[in-house]
Amino acid sequence: MARYPEFAGKVLVATGGASLIVEALARQFVDNGGRVVLGDLQDEFAEQLVSSLGGSGRFVRTDVTSDGDLDDLLAAAVKDFGGVDYVVSAHTTFACGQLDTTRENWRTSLDVNVASAAMLVERAVPLMQQRGGGAAVLVTSVSGKASQPNRIVYPVTKAALLGLNRNLSQALAPLGIRINSVSPGWTWSRNIERRYGTREHADSFAGEFHSIRRMADPEEIADAICYLCSEGASFITGADLAVDGGYSALGPEALGQPYEKFPAINP
Ligand SMILES: NC(=O)c1ccc[n+]([C@@H]2O[C@H](COP(=O)([O-])OP(=O)(O)OC[C@H]3O[C@@H](n4cnc5c(N)ncnc54)[C@H](O)[C@@H]3O)[C@@H](O)[C@H]2O)c1
Repeated sequence: MARYPEFAGKVLVATGGASLIVEALARQFVDNGGRVVLGDLQDEFAEQLVSSLGGSGRFVRTDVTSDGDLDDLLAAAVKDFGGVDYVVSAHTTFACGQLDTTRENWRTSLDVNVASAAMLVERAVPLMQQRGGGAAVLVTSVSGKASQPNRIVYPVTKAALLGLNRNLSQALAPLGIRINSVSPGWTWSRNIERRYGTREHADSFAGEFHSIRRMADPEEIADAICYLCSEGASFITGADLAVDGGYSALGPEALGQPYEKFPAINP
């Protein structure tokens, strides 16, 4: 039985189509009877995914910093599936300087991660209105809420998405469109596989700073995005859903490491 029968016949457009999070999202959405149109700069993984969706998916090679490419992505949803009901911004650049960040680095990251998310939603609005309303989800990150070592630019762009979400929600509500964000904790991805090798190693690392002691499965982030698109979230807009295994609930005393490093003399 479909978990979200309201997705039947509906169309979701998502950027970041080559990521594991969007792969999981596309599979869940199609399993519930929906159709998906995915955009990404990288075509290999997204094309493989779309070819496994049995005619319910399309891939459009998209550079999100090009308004023309965003229009082509949305136009494909209209041409092939009849319209746009949901839009998900999940693309990102992780390119991130520290004290050596150039103005060009800032411009590029803010353009890809923030302005392009705004342009995607803005351009999807008239199409969602034609269908009587819709929902948008911005994928941000725990990085937008806490400082992290070795990073400055990426976390700032993710914090900006939280502000974009709040401010767009006011403009979109009168149009019958809800917008929310999802802030994942560390999530298994192609990038993390390349850096940490195995899931076991990656979970041991992530277990140091997530209360649930592992990183997220992409499906767990996709679940939250589906929920925010669904009718169950009909009164939720401008909100951020932390899907972070407790990461953002931790304070400076973290998961007890200081207690292990500096045991009390008289426990
Ligand atoms: N993996 C994590 O630990 C984690 C944690 C929190 C949030 N997130 C967020 O989840 C989302 C997916 O990230 P991921 O970790 O799976 O990484 P990923 O690198 O697999 O996905 C990001 C995608 O964005 C695409 N992209 C980058 N620049 C683009 C451009 N100009 N035009 C079109 N596409 C472009 C990339 O090609 C890539 O496929 C991102 O928004 C990321 O910030 C990830």
